[in-house]
Amino acid sequence: MIPQDFIDDLISRADIIEVLGRRIQLKKAGREFKACCPFHDEKTPSFTVSPSKGFYHCFGCGAHGTAIGFLMEFDHMSFVEAIEALASMMGVDVPRDESDRPARRYDELFSLMGSVEKHWQACLRDNASAVDYLKQRGIDGATAKRFGIGYAPDSWSDVLDKFGKTSEAAERLLATGLVIRKDNGKHYDRFRDRIMFPIRDARGRTIGFGGRALGDGEPKYLNSPETVLFHKGRELYGLYEARQALRQIDQLVVVEGYMDVVALSRHGIDFSIATLGTATTSDHLDRIFRLTDNVVFSFDGDRAGKAAAWRALENALPQVREGRQIRFVFLPEKHDPDSYVNEYGSDAFMQAIDEGIALSDFLIGELSSQVDMTTIDGKARLAELAKPLVNNIPPGVYRELLIESLADTVGLSAAKLERMLGHATEKQSRPAPNPANEGKRRRRESTSGRPSAVRRAITLLLNYPESGHKLDVEMLAGVNRPGVDLLRDLIETVQTEPNITTAGLLERWRHDDKGRHLGKLAAIEVPAEEDFDASAELVACLEQLAAAGRRERIEFLIEKQRLSSLTDEEKAEIRALR
Ligand code: UTP
Ligand code: MN
Repeated sequence: MIPQDFIDDLISRADIIEVLGRRIQLKKAGREFKACCPFHDEKTPSFTVSPSKGFYHCFGCGAHGTAIGFLMEFDHMSFVEAIEALASMMGVDVPRDESDRPARRYDELFSLMGSVEKHWQACLRDNASAVDYLKQRGIDGATAKRFGIGYAPDSWSDVLDKFGKTSEAAERLLATGLVIRKDNGKHYDRFRDRIMFPIRDARGRTIGFGGRALGDGEPKYLNSPETVLFHKGRELYGLYEARQALRQIDQLVVVEGYMDVVALSRHGIDFSIATLGTATTSDHLDRIFRLTDNVVFSFDGDRAGKAAAWRALENALPQVREGRQIRFVFLPEKHDPDSYVNEYGSDAFMQAIDEGIALSDFLIGELSSQVDMTTIDGKARLAELAKPLVNNIPPGVYRELLIESLADTVGLSAAKLERMLGHATEKQSRPAPNPANEGKRRRRESTSGRPSAVRRAITLLLNYPESGHKLDVEMLAGVNRPGVDLLRDLIETVQTEPNITTAGLLERWRHDDKGRHLGKLAAIEVPAEEDFDASAELVACLEQLAAAGRRERIEFLIEKQRLSSLTDEEKAEIRALR
């Protein structure tokens, strides 16, 4: 494992012109460089290299990438070899996670986490109100023990006093996120007066904690920050415990909260796991599908739960295929798996799971509720909405079946729908394909029509990473479109790493399924006139998305009003939205 920050740094400092210039003949052309493409036969140069973006792209054959990608393609190197070659050109050594930070240090951090966990378990036994709280939430001693639940006392220095006596010890506490450092250099306990849930890695070592306030304290849950041990977007709460409890994992139920996992386990349902306050990412899904082909998402029965389910669906699409079962359970409003299983028992929950709707039905149901399918326009709109989703599903039987059942729903033949899916975003007619123009045609296709706001925003961010520095990601809250997740991640990345370049972003997503198309988007030419203001363009895209999100919400509420009635909350919401 090569540390990601090393790769980021390497790629931002590497001179792509130097790397490529040693291998092919480059000619300066304005701010860029041109060459005859080394990856296909050509007489006039259509291979372009941008030193500022750290990125090359061939308009003829579509080849593109960073300095690392070029070494891999041109010199047939592996990813690691390319990094090593680049590092040695720049005269630096490639650090390895282990050799760089001595393994001993990790061991010390793990054992510190273990000691604090035990300490908090002892504190729980001594604190009647914490025990009462758990009891009142239906958690018995055995369950608390299985999950290692504890209690962090109401003190600013309990952990600090017991585990941070020397300055090295305090540093270790800081590295695990158990204490926070003040401006004056003094430390204090992060977790105070909270029920503590240890978060364990696949080997059962505690790598972080979630702490719940006993009352209405804010925030309700406080989690460990990102540390060398703990990466929130990758971990699944309860997975270790599930693997301990079960000899074989037939299915996994993905829920939203710590308490959901614990409550289900208390009721004998030992195969639930939770993401840690984040959306279900493709990393999560990779880990899940390595264990089972049968996954059920059971989120809260409110609007946020529905939105979370839809994001999970979007992220799952690239991984659906025949043989895999992905279902969604929507519990009655005001319930989450915890409250549901406590009120109705485990049989009822199991039945709810068995009755969960298949991914394909969820997808089709959601889409068709957004359009009027009795009209031709409505059907066309449905095809338009379905297109990006269907295109994310790998070709195969599953996709064919989904298209068929989508066609069935709209009342079209599958062939006709497939044609509509192919043309949904390209309404203007295209010249007939001319094989001699293959390269050019492909290029025009990908940039013609009106690219979606998400796509435009991603393209801008990739080309002008600094334009995203001041964006407010919150604008995207409640916006449900394919790609919004990725957009959000990109914005967060350029904000936490203000120096990242186009190439740096591409390398960051190299091993991520969602990043498959980023290279192509980075290659789209964005106007470069003097007065072009990428930040303003980006804000406009986000505003457009936010407005679309609001519109969809209003439409939803109006429809709901028509069919049933709105709660007072929803009435207020609709007034505010308008
Ligand atoms: P919920 O608010 O649904 O919590 O958040 P819950 O699990 O039902 O909690 P109880 O039943 O009120 O105790 C779901 C998850 O979102 C994250 C936590 O991981 C939580 O389990 N979260 C929530 C936070 O990280 N911080 C918060 O303030 C709230
Ligand atoms: Mn709950």
